[in-house]
Amino acid sequence: MKQKTVYSIAIALATTMYIGVTNADTVDERLKAYTAEGAGNFSAQAGEKLWIKDFPDTENPGKVRNCSTCHGEDLTKPGKHAKTGKKIDPLAPSANKERFTDAKFVEKWFKRNCKWVLDRECTAQEKGDFLMYLRNK
Ligand code: HEC
Repeated sequence: MKQKTVYSIAIALATTMYIGVTNADTVDERLKAYTAEGAGNFSAQAGEKLWIKDFPDTENPGKVRNCSTCHGEDLTKPGKHAKTGKKIDPLAPSANKERFTDAKFVEKWFKRNCKWVLDRECTAQEKGDFLMYLRNK
């Protein structure tokens, strides 16, 4: 590789690391998007309430599902997928800097997990409340 190319790559890398997309940016951007959809006054308390709320397990009558079913009780610790048994990295940004840095990833998993737990997609309000709760974990 030419020396000039090496320098360019090094500078590009350093710049990316310096500017970096932080989870605060992504969360703020998501909250703005939800506000544009008519939601607002997002609340960590409401997020926590919904996070621990039990919903009927549609596959196992008598059992329940909630967000902790896979992510665990302590969000700074790894979780375990209820179906596959696979390890899930901690959801808390304090333990995992990658968390909530990619809007598409956030939305993809909100969609899947809300469908699995609530048996429907979450509203913009619910997603905003969840992020308010999760962002400071
Ligand atoms: C069936 C298991 C399961 C349940 C229950 C579950 N999740 Fe997840 N969740 C996952 C998996 C798997 C991922 C993707 C892997 C990863 O991020 O480590 C994920 C990722 C996420 C992400 C993306 C995080 C990021 O880094 O951007 C969010 C947000 C999320 N979950 C929210 C929720 C909410 C809200 C609930 C409750 C409504 C919930 N999850 C319940 C398995 C689950």
